[in-house]
Amino acid sequence: MDVRNTVKPIKITVCGGGNGAQALVAIAAGLGGCEVDIYAPFADEADRLRQGTNRNGGIESVGMAAARGMPHRISADPSAVIPGSEIVFLVAPAFAHKAMLDAITPYLGAKTWVGALPARGGFDYAAFSILTAHKRPDVRLFGLQTLPWSCRIEKYGESVRILGIKSIVDVATRPAIQVEEMQQTLQSILGLSMDKAANFLALTLANVGQLIHPGIMYSLFAGWDGKPYRAETIPLFYQSLNEKGAAILQQLSDDIQHVRSHLTHYLDLSAVRPLHEWLLRSYPNDIADPSTLRSAFVSNRAYAGLKAPMQEVAPGEYAPDFKARYLAEDAPYGLAISRAIAQLAGVRTPMIDEVLRWAGARLEIDLLDSQAPGLRTPQNYGIHHLKELLEFTSD
Ligand code: NAI
Repeated sequence: MDVRNTVKPIKITVCGGGNGAQALVAIAAGLGGCEVDIYAPFADEADRLRQGTNRNGGIESVGMAAARGMPHRISADPSAVIPGSEIVFLVAPAFAHKAMLDAITPYLGAKTWVGALPARGGFDYAAFSILTAHKRPDVRLFGLQTLPWSCRIEKYGESVRILGIKSIVDVATRPAIQVEEMQQTLQSILGLSMDKAANFLALTLANVGQLIHPGIMYSLFAGWDGKPYRAETIPLFYQSLNEKGAAILQQLSDDIQHVRSHLTHYLDLSAVRPLHEWLLRSYPNDIADPSTLRSAFVSNRAYAGLKAPMQEVAPGEYAPDFKARYLAEDAPYGLAISRAIAQLAGVRTPMIDEVLRWAGARLEIDLLDSQAPGLRTPQNYGIHHLKELLEFTSD
């Protein structure tokens, strides 16, 4: 008897209907053998996913990971898909996490795992606060340091292109002690090498999207003279990184490393790697010239061809889109959280401050104020001293 037929598949729910969510559905159902439901509350996504998957016999991932998975149920109503889930994955920009967690928490079964791909900064503070409000201390949290794939939907509900796959991805859990369980499970569902981050604080500081995206936006556009771009002059986002831009990224990474060295007396923060080291570890087979930070960006085929975010301001004329995720997600849900942690640790972060000052002006949020409304900083969840931060992190 084939033993695989006797093992009950893991029932998971993917929350979201975007690029990463559809990649996860194809891979977890098609390769990971999971029974996959989708919670898609946004706009008409549940209907479109149902139509697309019916037409195509499932969602297909193409490119660097070929899989096809048929979701079991798709709904915009959490009560229809969340009950019975062993793992719930939030695969959406960080600004959607709170609304999703508020909606799904009443339907979570005992000891369910709920996690975010990627976690970005401060996911644990926000999620813990929502779970506490619902009196659900049994629910377990996990987060990934990054989305494992660089991916774009090709045909909604039918196919998603995987442009790049990270070689290894870190996971953290709360309780931290249970990280090995999640590491093993995710490895088999995602078909990837997973490593452990010792705690969620490490994951927040190790989020490199917070450095790369606002850092490159700052380097490309802080000196922008307001003249519109034409389609053919829109800069490549990663591949046009120059020496000055690479120096900004290096200094952002150095600021994070100072926070890490300060807190490392108290916590295991070995997952918080310098940016250059992270790139080489994540893309060992994609980077043609690993010699410098700049060359590791411009010669990384997973980044090839991706352009800077723009909005059309007149026919054929483009301006930088400062409301795009590279700023609107990665500064308030990334860099600002690490900066607030640095404040609790008493560590100065000069380049982070410079980039946040500029990004905050574009987004009209004071990102240097650790108590600015909506930021997932420890301070906004009642943590005002280093001792409290360490206690929360060690729970
Ligand atoms: P996406 O833009 O495709 O996802 C948007 C989806 O999020 C929407 O389709 C909707 O389902 C959900 N959503 C958005 N706002 C919502 C709201 N208010 N309420 C409920 N649901 C809402 O994003 P993508 O590309 O899947 O990325 C997901 C995360 O992964 C983001 O944090 C992104 O920065 C990160 N990431 C994505 C990469 C990629 O190649 N796609 C690469 C690395 C990181």
